Formats: sequence, structure tokens, C-alpha cells
Amino acid sequence: MVGSVLMDRMQAEGDFEHIEPVFFSTSNAGGAAPTMAKNEKKLFDAYDIDALKRCEIIVTAQGGDYTSDVFPRLRAAGWKGHWIDAASTLRMKHDAVIVLDPINMPVIKNALAKGGRNWIGGNCTVSCMLMGVGALYKAGLVEWMNTMTYQAASGGGAAHMRELLTQYGTLNASVRRLLDDPKSAILEVDRQLAATQRGLSEAETVNFGVPLGGSLIPWIDKDLGDGMSKEEWKGEAETNKILGQGAGFGTAATPVDGFCVRVGAMRCHSQAMLFKLKKDVPLADVEALIANDNAWVKVVPNTKEATLRDLTPVAVTGTMAIPVGRLRKMSMGPEYLGAFTIGDQLLWGAAEPLRRMLLIVIEA
Ligand code: HSE
Repeated sequence: MVGSVLMDRMQAEGDFEHIEPVFFSTSNAGGAAPTMAKNEKKLFDAYDIDALKRCEIIVTAQGGDYTSDVFPRLRAAGWKGHWIDAASTLRMKHDAVIVLDPINMPVIKNALAKGGRNWIGGNCTVSCMLMGVGALYKAGLVEWMNTMTYQAASGGGAAHMRELLTQYGTLNASVRRLLDDPKSAILEVDRQLAATQRGLSEAETVNFGVPLGGSLIPWIDKDLGDGMSKEEWKGEAETNKILGQGAGFGTAATPVDGFCVRVGAMRCHSQAMLFKLKKDVPLADVEALIANDNAWVKVVPNTKEATLRDLTPVAVTGTMAIPVGRLRKMSMGPEYLGAFTIGDQLLWGAAEPLRRMLLIVIEA
């Protein structure tokens, strides 16, 4: 899915004009390459190390198992090219940079100058968050951040999106007759719905493990065994690494923590954030900082009307916009700032940083 979105974006931006692409497949070697192929019209075998070695740059959204298998063999075979990858496998390696150039171009440039070759896309939630509020970090204003996420089905993959919609359909069908009757008792509808949710079969919940339609799941990714989910761990680890601070950079890390929750949205990850700022910054200054950080972030006025119009997954899905709204000082004190942001997790959360890194490498 990330690969398809990436190809769409690369076509839309004319990226293929700058490269001589060779397409590889893990399942269909020998098949016809996409129309963007120039000289090489057939799909190559994505496990053929010799064929991969011919490429100066490899861009992959194939997933962690592929990276774990192929990347070490490729490097062991002496390949010195640039590896641009969506999978998390290599993210925290000391010689890898998590790429999000509107936020960390200096970190990328510094690594390029030192001969860096491994460029990895960040966790979608972290990338979307930093595209929205990265300005506060760049300005050195953040003492700590608490984030509570509302993550879409697409974060699990295409099958998860299908499962969510199938569940919604089953749920609706189970109460349709009652819904069609305006005189039916809503508590009866609710009772019937809960019975259907609890009765969903294993096949209907195989991806999420439990019903997500009409519910939520406050755990994403592995159980680290210390009370934290791996998705929650990524928040602090990746935010700091993207910003070029903390372990590995000889500076203090900014504490980032919170809960990551799967909700019944399709492909937009949302998050509510609480910042403890290092000083009391006027709200208008905070808004200006955020609004001027990059071309995609958009400050949404903290009104009900603007929030309902511009600050929902439905408003953002399929777009490059990163709205940041609900900005207000919290009752805990003037250094406590609340905010809410949303991003399409397949665009800024996955594909976009990769295609932009490809252009950065080409221009370097
Ligand atoms: N871990 C993310 C999620 C996927 O499950 O939503 C994108 O990094």
C-alpha cells in the first residue's frame, strides 16, 4: 500500500524524469514493469543481489522482513549505494538517519557530508506529529510532550482497512431493521449491536484480534513487557533521533510519552498533545511559529466551526495538509500548551519523506 501511494506521488511530482528506474518484485520477477520504466521493461527479482547491486539508489517499501533479509547481504556484497526504506528495521541503527527533511534537513545534510548511505522513513505517527508541531522543538521550547494518539486502520495495512469496513457492514446489517423503524428503542439497537460485536467470528477479527468497528483498541504494536507498547516507545526514541538529539548525539533527549490507540478511522492518524513549554510563550507567537514552519502545516483556529470543518480525519484524508488546531493554554498553567494534529499516515506518514529523500540524494 505504501509502495502504491509512493508511486502515485512520484508520478504526480514527475520524480521519474530524474531517474532511470529499474523495478524489482518479490513475487512477480519477469513480469511487466510499470509504464515509468525506461530501458528495463521487466520486473527484476527483488532477492537478486547482483541485480540490486547495479542500482545507485534503492527505494523500498517492501517491509521489515525484506529489509532484514536483503539489506545485510547487499552491504556484505560490497554495495555502497543509498538505501531509502519505509520499514522500521534499520531506523535506530547508528548509521541510519530517520528522514523528514522539512524538520531535519540539517541532520540529513550532516549525515550526507559524512558519507551516510541509509535513509529510513519514520514511524507515521511521529512524522505526522513533527510536521505539525516540529517548530516548537526547533525553537527549543519543549520541556516534555505527552501525546495521546487516535491511529487509523491503515497503520496495520490494507487487510486491516478491509476488516474495519467489513465489521462496520456487519454491525449495520445486524441492526438495520431496527434502525429503519424510527419508533424502535435505541437501547434495543445498542444491545443488538453489542451482541453482534461480541459475536464477531475469528475470521472477522483476524487482523485486529478484537472488534474495532464501533470500538477502539488502546494498544498498538508489540508489548515491550514494561507496560509500554512499542508504538509508544517509538514516540520518544524516534522524535529525538529525527531531531538529532539524545542518545547518539551527546545531548539530552526530550521526554515524549503517552498512549497510542487504534480507532476506526481509515488512513489519518490524529493525536492530542500536551506540551510543557520551557517558558510562557504567548499563544499568538506559538501559532505563528507553527504556521511558518513548513508549507504543509496549517493552523486551524480554535473554534468549533473551524475544528469541525478542517480538523477531522475525513477533512485531511488523501491530502498533504497537516492541520494543527485546538491550540490553547491549559488550566495547569501558562507553560502548558494543548494542541491537536492530524496527518494522512500514508502520505507524510510514509511515502512522502522517502520520495523527497530520493530527490535530496540525487541533488547531493
Ligand atoms: N505503526 C503504525 C501504526 C504504522 O500501526 O499505525 C506506521 O508506522
